[in-house]
Amino acid sequence: MNDREPNQKESKESVNDAVPRARKIDDQQLRVSKIRDGTVIDHLTAGEALNVLAILGIDGSSGEGVSVGMNVISDRLGRKDIVKVEDRELSQSEVDVLAVIAPEATINIIRDYAVVDKKRIERPTAVTGLLFCPNRNCITNANEPINTRFIVLDEGLQCDYCGSIVRESEVPTYLDVA
Ligand code: CTP
Ligand code: ZN
Repeated sequence: MNDREPNQKESKESVNDAVPRARKIDDQQLRVSKIRDGTVIDHLTAGEALNVLAILGIDGSSGEGVSVGMNVISDRLGRKDIVKVEDRELSQSEVDVLAVIAPEATINIIRDYAVVDKKRIERPTAVTGLLFCPNRNCITNANEPINTRFIVLDEGLQCDYCGSIVRESEVPTYLDVA
C-alpha cells in the first residue's frame, strides 16, 4: 500500500505534464471551432441548444455539420450555449421561431470564414404558420386553408383562433416547420 501511493501520484503528475494548460484550452475551443460557411447561433441561454436543434429539425440524420457548445464560458452571460450549423443560412421564418424561445440570441451568417451578417433577433408579437395548435378541435386543425397564428404572451403562445396556449417549453413539440 505504502509503495503504491507515491506511484499513483507520480503517474498523475506525468499525465498533467503531458497535457499542458494551453493544449486543454485549445481542445475547448476545438469543441466550437470556426466554420467556413453557415450560421452561428450565439449567446443562447445555457440549456437552449437542444431546443434550437429541435426547432431547426437537426437530428444528425441528414449528415449536416453541426457543432454544439453547451455551458461555454461567456463574458456577457456567464455560461451560454452556441450552435453552429454548416452550409446552411437560416431563413427569416426559422429566425422568427428561434426568437420565441431565444430572444437574446445572436445569429451570425458566415461566408468564407467571415461574419457577413449579424442579426440580433427580437421576440415577435405573433407567429404565423410555424406551430400547429394543440387543440384538435381548433379550426386550424380542420381541413381548412387557414394558417395558424399565435400571439406571443408572457405565459406562452396563444392560438388566435381558439385561445389554446403553447408554453415555450412545448414549442419544439408543436413545430410545423419542415
Ligand atoms: N464564428 C465562427 N466561424 C467563423 C466566424 C465566426 O464560428 N468563421 C463565430 C464566432 O466564434 C462567434 C460568432 O461566430 O461565436 C460571432 O463571431 P464574431 O462576430 O467574430 O465574434 P464577436 O465579435 O465576439 O461576436 P459578438 O459581438 O456577437 O459576441
Ligand atoms: Zn387553436
